[in-house]
Amino acid sequence: MPTIFEPFRIKTVEPIQRTTRAERERFLAEAGYNLFKLPAAAILIDLLTDSGTGAMSAEQWAAMMRGDESYAGSDSFSRFERAVQDIYGFEHVIPTHQGRAAERILAATLCRPGHVVPNNTHFDTTRANIEAAGAVALDLPCRESHDLSAVHPFKGNIDLEALERVLDDNSGAIPFVMVTITNNGGGGQPVSMANLEATSRLCRDRGVPFYLDACRFAENAYFIQRRESGYAGKPLIEIAREMFALADGCTMSAKKDGMANIGGFLCTNDDEVSAQEEELLILTEGFPTYGGLAGRDLEAIAVGLYEALDPEYQRYRHASIKYLGDRLAEAGVAIVQPPGGHAIYIDAAASLPHIPRSEFPGQALAVALYLAGGVRSVEIGSVMLGRRDPETGEEIPAENELVRLAIPRRVYTQSHIDYVIETIVELFAARGSIHGFRLVDQPAGLRHFSAAFEPVSVEA
Ligand code: F0G
Repeated sequence: MPTIFEPFRIKTVEPIQRTTRAERERFLAEAGYNLFKLPAAAILIDLLTDSGTGAMSAEQWAAMMRGDESYAGSDSFSRFERAVQDIYGFEHVIPTHQGRAAERILAATLCRPGHVVPNNTHFDTTRANIEAAGAVALDLPCRESHDLSAVHPFKGNIDLEALERVLDDNSGAIPFVMVTITNNGGGGQPVSMANLEATSRLCRDRGVPFYLDACRFAENAYFIQRRESGYAGKPLIEIAREMFALADGCTMSAKKDGMANIGGFLCTNDDEVSAQEEELLILTEGFPTYGGLAGRDLEAIAVGLYEALDPEYQRYRHASIKYLGDRLAEAGVAIVQPPGGHAIYIDAAASLPHIPRSEFPGQALAVALYLAGGVRSVEIGSVMLGRRDPETGEEIPAENELVRLAIPRRVYTQSHIDYVIETIVELFAARGSIHGFRLVDQPAGLRHFSAAFEPVSVEA
């Protein structure tokens, strides 16, 4: 059946407000054409991120009422720890307020100046935390990932040859190797079990710990089930356990496949490392039985991790995202192929060839999409990843100019997705009139959050 069936019914609704084009023009001007600065109430469909934006289930809300808010020894922590250990299998589970707190504790514990940390692609906070500890964050995405339009089942893989070289050239200076599943920075593309196995082997042969950035582990497990031979009949939970058994620890943002609005955790099998991490945890996050979280948040995560592994849910999520990607591609919109596990990425440089890289085609497309239909996306291009040379003032562009449409979990229906498709297809019919932007104000770091722009006027 072609109908994409949402495997839930809706119990609580939240109105979304339509705005007029004139209102959106005003909101944009007031926000300095930076979509992070728009009031959320002015947005019709918000595809800025899939992080913490999901809808919780009735079971999660029910579990939250059981939240034990004891400072120490909370029952909620025991339930959370049991769930994480059951699925992930690691010995020590350290709760944190979100993924980046887990990254910070891990990097502060293990990374030193002179160290190198390889990853398929570091997420920006992971990179920043490793660099803050004085180490170098090295991206080693597989070769297939560089061709945005090439269809390959596991474009999120790490480049094994490059990894082996880096491990051998930096012996003694690699505190851990990390692999991000799925690879957010590389288009939400999955990593195969074979690639994880080979990475694990390379690391274990050399005594280097292997960590997973596990934010979207359930989506990755679904891709393995669908695409890798030998996994078709295997339940997602078993595939997840098999992935984690290859690693020595992980960082996790429960705002993604934890199906929660806040939360994260850090895992390790190493007693000594865990003891050091707990000390840091107490300094900034909290006592080890709550981390930066309330007992009720721990309950929501304990339930949510299993819900992410529900095959019906994953089937619907992947079908819906693929549907969005396929309809856009059919209409001639250049997207990163194949569709990812949590988002569709539009190639703005290929789509808007009349806008030079110096005028931020990704930003131009994201702004035009909001103006056209109240849809908020996020630029992942030169605004986010490029930088200005401090000496010459010249812009150094990013490798790609992408616009990400990230799909919140269980929030939007198929008609919302159809509306997004109609808006983009209509916008692309007149894409020649989309104009570029000039940066007029930017902070020193993480400029995409607060930079201000002005439109580059179009010549008549
Ligand atoms: N790792 C990956 C792969 C991520 O995508 C994120 C967050 C983090 C770590 C950090 O987790 O937000 O809980 O601190 N990604 C969000 C996004 C923000 O929009 O892709 P966090």
